[in-house]
Amino acid sequence: MRRAAVYHFADGAGPGAGLADALGLPGQMIDVRRFPDGESLVRVAHGATTALLFRSLDHPNEKLVELLLAAAALRDMGAKRVVLVVPYLAYMRQDMAFLPGQAISQRVITQLIAAHCDGLVTVDPHLHRTPSLQAISPELECAYVSAASTLADLLRPDLVPGTVLVGPDSESRPWVESVARPLGCPVIVGEKTRFGDRDVTLTLPGIEQVAGQRVVLVDDMISTGGTLLHSAAQLLAAGATGVEAVTAHCLASHDDLARLKAGGIERVRATDTVAGPTVAAAMAPALAEAIRGTWGADL
Ligand code: R5P
Repeated sequence: MRRAAVYHFADGAGPGAGLADALGLPGQMIDVRRFPDGESLVRVAHGATTALLFRSLDHPNEKLVELLLAAAALRDMGAKRVVLVVPYLAYMRQDMAFLPGQAISQRVITQLIAAHCDGLVTVDPHLHRTPSLQAISPELECAYVSAASTLADLLRPDLVPGTVLVGPDSESRPWVESVARPLGCPVIVGEKTRFGDRDVTLTLPGIEQVAGQRVVLVDDMISTGGTLLHSAAQLLAAGATGVEAVTAHCLASHDDLARLKAGGIERVRATDTVAGPTVAAAMAPALAEAIRGTWGADL
C-alpha cells in the first residue's frame, strides 16, 4: 500500500492534482456513480496509509455525503489517517443560535468531520468568534492556511501608488491588515449591519481618504456580493477613482458577478478554493506547506 496519496473528485481535479504535485505524492480521482434516485456510489481504487482527501465544500449539501463515504472507503482500504483538505469549508458562519431553535451549523459540521476524519486543512475558515475548530472537536487535528499573502502577491504587480485597501466589516480587520502590510497600503475598515441575505448597511469611517485614489475591497468571502456592492457605492460616491475586489472564497453566482460589475467594481479576483471565473491564484503551494508542517512525518 502507498505511504500517502491525495484523493480528489472530478469537480476538483485541477486543484487536487496541483496539491498532489506540490506535495510530490500520487494523485487519484475518486470514482462517483450517481444512481437514478440521486444516491451516490463512491469508489477509491487504491489505498494509502495517510490519505489526503481533497474537496472544496461550496454547494456542501451535495458534496458532503460523498466526502464522508470516501473517508469511510479509504479507512476500509487500510488508511490509518484520513486528513480532509477542504479549501473552502462551508457552514462556518452560523457559529451560534441567533434565534431560538436554529441549528449551530459550525458545530454540527465540525463534529461530523471529526467523526470520520483525523485531520482537517482549510483556507481562512470563517471562525471569528471560535478560536479553533479543535475547541469544538479536540480530537480533530486542524491546520489553517491564510490566503492573505497569496492575495498580496496577486495585487503587487499592478498596484497603483496610494491605493487604499478596504475591509467592509470589523471581522475583516485582521485579514485586510494582513493583505495590506506587505504592500504598505493604508487600510479602512467598515462597520456592517446585516438585515437579510442581500440587505446590509455599512459605514466606512475615514472614507474621505479614498478621494482621488484607487480602492481594493478585501474580504474573506463573497457570497451574494451585497457587502461589496454597498461598499463600492459609497467609495465611488466619496471620489474613489476605481474599485476592484479580492477575496479568498468567491461563491458569487454569474448574476451576482454581473451585478458587481454593474455596480462599478471593475474586477473581482479570488483564489481557487472555489472554482469559477474569478479564480486568479492557486492555493496548492500554501496548502502543501501547511500539510507538510503538520503531517510531514507521515507523507
Ligand atoms: C461576513 O462576515 C463575511 O466576511 C462576508 O463579508 C460575507 O459573507 C459576504 O457576504 P455577501 O457577499 O453575501 O454580502
